[in-house]
Amino acid sequence: MPQTLSVLPPEQGVRLITLQRPEALNALNTQLLGELAAELDAAEACADTRAVVITGSLRAFAAGADIKEMAERDLVGILEDPRLAHWQRITRFSKPLIAAVNGFALGGGCELAMHADILIAGEDAQFGQPEINLAIMPGAGGTQRLLRAVGKSLAMQMVLTGEPISARRALEAGLVSEITQPELTVERAVAIARKIAEKAPLAVRLAKEALLKAEDTDLASGLRFERHAFTLLAGTEDRNEGIRAFQEKRKPAYKGR
Ligand code: CAA
Repeated sequence: MPQTLSVLPPEQGVRLITLQRPEALNALNTQLLGELAAELDAAEACADTRAVVITGSLRAFAAGADIKEMAERDLVGILEDPRLAHWQRITRFSKPLIAAVNGFALGGGCELAMHADILIAGEDAQFGQPEINLAIMPGAGGTQRLLRAVGKSLAMQMVLTGEPISARRALEAGLVSEITQPELTVERAVAIARKIAEKAPLAVRLAKEALLKAEDTDLASGLRFERHAFTLLAGTEDRNEGIRAFQEKRKPAYKGR
């Protein structure tokens, strides 16, 4: 049983994971990241889980890497940091991951939110990369994902000044896709996840993969990948079912094949 998370079993295809280290504003220590990676592995293997929502509390999604733990690591400790493997497992998660973010999403917390495919924020959420205030810099993808999400100027400003941005600014910049009242953020994220969970799983999986390719490949390679993925889906039973259901004016019954 995880001690730093609460996990609800999948309901209508959606598993809800809540970070729970209130005493440290959900700071991402090794235990929490390990438990999160293990839960995502379990969600990956579970056919009833079609999408995952991850959230924190109203006060904090996550206030970053655990600074107390970080203080104990020297250069060698950081080179051998077991958290790197946990981050890699989170990155590999192939099903849709939606972050419902309230309060502080700082440092590793902002980076964790950016591992999600869709970000929904409460009106009072704050996104920031304050590592520079500790004479360090983002180390879990912050420089790369933030720049791709909000563009060079705002990413530079956030990383070099350490100053956070509001949910409204994050929406304008394209970091999040919607903002809601804080108490409705999880509900909205779950509603979006349920909508995705109704779709054909293989189509969702390949569409996610193709969209992520756009972040790390040139246009011609990305278009080639898209075409291959599109062609692959033509060989699935679900594709035939989707087209038949449309023609017969009924809901499709997808099998994930
Ligand atoms: N690590 C460990 N503990 C943390 C923490 C963190 N990142 N953030 C907050 N806490 C703890 C505080 O130490 C405090 O615990 P105690 O009561 O035992 O002292 C508790 O959470 C509540 O925090 P505050 O009293 O500071 O609450 P506040 O409302 O006054 O301030 C805050 C909130 C602005 C988020 C402030 O806590 C803060 O600045 N936190 C650090 C944010 C930060 O620098 N994050 C980046 C970390 S580095 C990183 O993430 C590297 C990476 O990319 C891999």
